[in-house]
Order: sequence, then structure tokens, then C-alpha cells
Amino acid sequence: MSFYRNTIWFVKGLQEYTKSGYEAAAKHFAPTDLDVNLSGRSFVITGANSGIGKATAQEIANRGGTVHLVCRNKGRAEAAKDEIVERSSNQNVHVHIVDMSSARQVWEFASNFMLNNTVHVLVNNAGCMVNQREVTEEGLEKNFATNTLGTYILTTALIPALKKAEDPRVITVSSGGMLTQKLDTDNLQFEKGTFDGTMAYAQNKRQQVILTEQWASQHKEIHFSSMHPGWADTPAVQLSMPSFHAKMQSKLRTEAMGADTTVWLAVSAAAAKQPSGLFFQDRKAVATHLPLASTKSTPQEKERLLTVLDELALKFKP
Ligand SMILES: NC(=O)c1ccc[n+]([C@@H]2O[C@H](COP(=O)([O-])OP(=O)(O)OC[C@H]3O[C@@H](n4cnc5c(N)ncnc54)[C@H](OP(=O)(O)O)[C@@H]3O)[C@@H](O)[C@H]2O)c1
Repeated sequence: MSFYRNTIWFVKGLQEYTKSGYEAAAKHFAPTDLDVNLSGRSFVITGANSGIGKATAQEIANRGGTVHLVCRNKGRAEAAKDEIVERSSNQNVHVHIVDMSSARQVWEFASNFMLNNTVHVLVNNAGCMVNQREVTEEGLEKNFATNTLGTYILTTALIPALKKAEDPRVITVSSGGMLTQKLDTDNLQFEKGTFDGTMAYAQNKRQQVILTEQWASQHKEIHFSSMHPGWADTPAVQLSMPSFHAKMQSKLRTEAMGADTTVWLAVSAAAAKQPSGLFFQDRKAVATHLPLASTKSTPQEKERLLTVLDELALKFKP
């Protein structure tokens, strides 16, 4: 089954996830959807010092939004901020240092942030694919801690603040790689079996898509979406998937192309008219399962993901 899923996913990717896939899709984009003035709106973007997150932050700053860059490294974050401010002439760009793999740091950031700031849009973009099993200081597997638990805690903690805002939105940058995985709540931290970083990453990305669906059904006041950026040439792809990067480099999207759907979901009126909880690719809601791939979960399994994450998240709440 995994050979079937991986093969049809890769063939689909060659057609849709590449630069030419983006160019074909972009012919159908509404030309004025991104013509918006974002002054007075506040955007929190994780992993915003690089790649898709930075490109998203730049587009939002260009349109006058207040941007909060949530990054783990001060030097990289300040450098990104300076570049975004210079290119946009927008001074409302702020740096917050948070390691998204640290549950405690994420809780602390969210509670402090809400004391002094408003948030209209949260973009859960920070992500990693760690290829050797690594455990954080809090004893959590690193991919899970960053991609799933960090995203879960930040979103959960900011939901009360989002509910106070006008037109609140949460966008989670998942991956088409999640199509190869069925949710597995019995092995969230990959303690069983042989560790495979690509598989762990794809499982986390499946979890993000399910979290988005669950949040959408629980919190009707907020518009939730998950999305796939396509295959974009970013440091993450270069470092975590060197052979894929070497083979595919000429076909990869630019960072801006990878960020396009996130920006569209975060700022356009058209995106807010779509139902909440869907998975997007190139500004369109798309299927969350490959045909005949046996990746669907029951409502009980999906509910269990939230229960398990909730219990774990509370252990680290200060
Ligand atoms: N590029 C693609 O083809 C592709 C495809 C599908 C999905 N995605 C998703 O797109 C998102 C952005 O990735 P990218 O491709 O743009 O790669 P990238 O340029 O390497 O960006 C990843 C960002 O996440 C940050 N990050 C990682 N771990 C973190 C942590 N523990 N705490 C805080 N920040 C952390 C990185 O910070 P540092 O700079 O400090 O490392 C960086 O800013 C990810 O969620 C990724 O899974 C990308």
C-alpha cells in the first residue's frame, strides 16, 4: 500500500507541485484577489525568517499589515525583519524568539503576546523534517514537537484572542506529502518500528490537516484552512531532502510561488467565502485523500488526536 500511495503521489506531484504546475494553475487565479490594504490587521507567522514563511511575511508587510515574525534564532529573525522592512517600507514588523519545538516556550509566548497585541491571522508555517530520531529537552520527538504539538499549542492558546478579532483566520502550512499517510494516534512520537523522518513528517502533516478540520467544526467564528505550497526551493528542502533537491531543482517553485496560497488564504475576501476547515493547493480546495489509498480515519480516531494532544499540551502549560 505504501508503494502505491508514494508512486501515485509522486506522479501527481510532477504534474501539480512543480513550477510548471503552479504556472498552469495561476492562469486561473482572479487577478485582483490580493489587491487589499491590510493596515490595522495583525498577522502572526511562525518560521518567518526563511522560505515560504518569509515570503508570506513580505507580501503581508507590502500590503500594510502588522507582522509578527515568530522565529527560534535571533540573528536570522532580525536579518529577515530588516529585509522585509526595507523592501516594504513598513515599520510594523516585530520579532519574537520562540522555539516551536518547546511546548513551554510556545505557551509562554502565546500568553505574553495576548497581553499586549491583537491577532487577526495566525499562520502556522514553521516546520521541520528531522531524519534521525531526536528528542527535545522536554522529552518529545522533534518532528512531532515542532510540527504537531507546537502548532496545536500555539493555535489553542491564541483561539480566545482570535475570537475577539474581526475576520479571524488560521492557516496551517501542511504538505501534499500527508496524502501518503493515514492518521496514527498510537505512535505519535514514532517510538514503535524503524524511524523514518520522511514518514514522520508526512504523518505530522496529516495531523495538521485533521486538526484544521476539527478546529473548524469546534470554532465557527474563526476561518481555518490547511494548505500545500507545492514543491518550493527552500533551505528545508535543500537540507532535509538533498537528493530530491538535486534531482528536482530546475522544476521547483520559487519561495514566492510556494507562499502564494498562504497569502491568498490569509488576506483575500475570496478565501474567507470558502467553507472553514478545508485543504488548499493553488488557491483551490482539494481532496485530502488519494483514490483507493485507505487513508481515511473515523470521526472517533480524529477526535482521539485532539484528546491526546490536549492531555500532552496541558502537561507543559505554565
Ligand atoms: N518547500 C517545500 O517544498 C514545502 C513543501 C511542503 C510543505 N512545506 C512546508 O512549508 C513550511 C515552511 O518550510 P520552507 O520550505 O519554507 O522551509 P524553510 O525555509 O527552511 O523554513 C522553515 C522555517 O521553520 C522554522 N523552524 C523550524 N523549526 C523551528 C522551531 N523549532 N522553532 C521555530 N521555527 C522553526 C525555520 O527556522 P530556522 O531558519 O531557524 O531553521 C524556518 O524559518 C514548513 O512547514 C514545511 O513543512 C514546504
